[in-house]
Amino acid sequence: MEGSSKTLLQVKNLSKKYLIKKQLLKKEFFYAVDNVSFYINQNETVGLVGESGSGKSTIGKLILKLIKKDEGEILFKGKDIYSFSRKEEKIFRKETSIVFQDPRTSLNPRMKIFQILEEPLIVHGFPKKERIKKVKKTIVDAGLDETFLDRYPSELSGGQRQRVAIARAIILEPDLIVADEPTSALDVSVQLQIINLINRLKTEKNISFLFISHDLNVVGLLSERIVVLYKGKIMEQGDGKKIIKNPLHPYTKLLIESLPPDHPSKRKDLEHIPETFREEIPGGCKFYSRCPIAQEICKKEPSYKKIDNREVYCHLV
Ligand SMILES: Nc1ncnc2c1ncn2[C@@H]1O[C@H](COP(=O)(O)OP(=O)(O)OP(=O)(O)O)[C@@H](O)[C@H]1O
Ligand SMILES: [Mg+2]
Repeated sequence: MEGSSKTLLQVKNLSKKYLIKKQLLKKEFFYAVDNVSFYINQNETVGLVGESGSGKSTIGKLILKLIKKDEGEILFKGKDIYSFSRKEEKIFRKETSIVFQDPRTSLNPRMKIFQILEEPLIVHGFPKKERIKKVKKTIVDAGLDETFLDRYPSELSGGQRQRVAIARAIILEPDLIVADEPTSALDVSVQLQIINLINRLKTEKNISFLFISHDLNVVGLLSERIVVLYKGKIMEQGDGKKIIKNPLHPYTKLLIESLPPDHPSKRKDLEHIPETFREEIPGGCKFYSRCPIAQEICKKEPSYKKIDNREVYCHLV
């Protein structure tokens, strides 16, 4: 999908492959991310949803240049992130950041919260006085108070630790944050608090988010647009409300059906979605083996269709 002048990040035909078999003279690759295109506008949250192993984290890491792409293009503010000069690279590092799923492992247990928040400011050359000021302000922006600065991560609850991780991600005033399952390790009530925090920061600080989750309910709560991923391919993407209300792809339909929105306690995980119906066809639709309505034509690769302001990867819509 093409972005507009407001586009902050544009991903075009992005692929990442891993070597799975190395036989004599024959290499076999597996595509963790397969010809993926999407964009994120300024001050927008895009939800990236898919089951475990679908390539969500790989996409998150690719767009922040934490791992190397194999094919395709990633443009940040219109510029190819692989063509950056050293100075541009440093600015890119300042303007982008990441929040991980588990704040227990993403925060250094031997550092006090103050040091954790101060670290990126040191890396980017902020003088001491400004560092103190920014740390004190940012902890409050993340919904905690200054008394937390003197504590270690182990002295915080899971939700409080995730607030610290978010404070660290916003301290350099980035334009884009990749939030990789930031609520998955938390209780439902705390999940909602973190979602509210992300929504507030997006508005107050004009930050764009790529919000990664396996939970379509969570994604639906805060994403303007949603990208549905299956085995490294985008199945459907577009307006978040439309996708939740009227999913077009058979995979998205199954996701929605299995997640009764008014009964969070009855939520099923994406892994509960169908058994395999038939054998996988290499080069065919990725969802063929599990699709309840697949037909002969689905043994061939579908192309993207534009329907109702959405892009759908299915022969049958
Ligand atoms: N360094 C690597 N070497 C080989 N395969 C990898 C590597 N990193 C990821 N993969 C594979 O790529 C696929 C996508 O992984 P990824 O971590 O992006 O999935 P995910 O959607 O984030 O899953 P989860 O919801 O479990 O976090 C998986 O099959 C994974 O095993
Ligand atoms: Mg992941």
